[in-house]
Amino acid sequence: MAMPRVLVTRRWPEDVERVLAARFDTTLNENDRPLTEAEFVSVMKGYDAVLPTVSDRLPSGLFDQPGLRTKVLGNFGVGFNHIDVAAAKSAGIVVTNTPGVLTDCTADLALTLMLMAARRAGEGERQLRSGEWKGWCPTHMLGSQLSGKVLGIIGMGRIGKATARRAHFGFGMKIVFFNRSDVDDDETRAMKAQQMKSIDKVMAASDFVSLHCPGGAGNRHLVDARRLALMKPGAYVINTARGDVVDTPALVEALTSRSIAGAGLDVYEGEPAIPAGLADIENVVLLPHLGSATSETRTAMGMKVVENITAFFDGLDPPDRIA
Ligand code: DGY
Repeated sequence: MAMPRVLVTRRWPEDVERVLAARFDTTLNENDRPLTEAEFVSVMKGYDAVLPTVSDRLPSGLFDQPGLRTKVLGNFGVGFNHIDVAAAKSAGIVVTNTPGVLTDCTADLALTLMLMAARRAGEGERQLRSGEWKGWCPTHMLGSQLSGKVLGIIGMGRIGKATARRAHFGFGMKIVFFNRSDVDDDETRAMKAQQMKSIDKVMAASDFVSLHCPGGAGNRHLVDARRLALMKPGAYVINTARGDVVDTPALVEALTSRSIAGAGLDVYEGEPAIPAGLADIENVVLLPHLGSATSETRTAMGMKVVENITAFFDGLDPPDRIA
């Protein structure tokens, strides 16, 4: 029987590309150039599996095309708001993602952003590199500490919990959180994390608010001007989830007017473009979507995709099927 034809939309860690090439009739993206919409239509007509990722766009129109050959989309990434999953499902296409393997890595980055924002690490580095540092003095670039502060988590799933665990056991932070469904497990109890009834209550109670909910329609601009106005004047917003969860012009306004103390962002609405005004503000730390960017994690993400499509072509239910 002929090997399934598999198309990988971007470069992946070499170890994973090797496994894919050995197991399937695989076409890799040697130049790492993102596919255009027209190219997506053509690969969906020519390949049994397409392996897209977070930087691709797969809107509903793609799945209305006649003559699609693709039967499975093995997404490299846990977030899938870049794929119209309902449209894929209606077209009879199975969609999988990569949960679990990027939890620790992303939680580490949330803590990195909290520390960088609170300790003004980006500002300090910019000052030093530009030769502006005048030397140590008791009032130089004072930030705030994490210890003993309140961390509010929006979305107490795997990554939210891993972030809370680090903050509570590592920095002695008190944890409050909002989650649509009730969360009552040993881990949450061990942290004495308090579930609050609304996002507004978490915004008002927290010194740091860290976002861990999915992006997309239901959560678009969940953190808007009204909710930012509920925050304490010394508070910080941390976003390692998706850019569209935050109304960025409202955040720029809150940061510029110092109605909140700062922010740490890893994701942006419309990335890789950075929303207007952000890059001019000192009290925001800006990283280029590095949440899962370690060799170990990216390899594990790729191997999860291999597991999923292998199961699919073996006639089994893929372990991380989302549609
Ligand atoms: C994901 O997997 O959705 C992440 O955003 C990639 O870091």
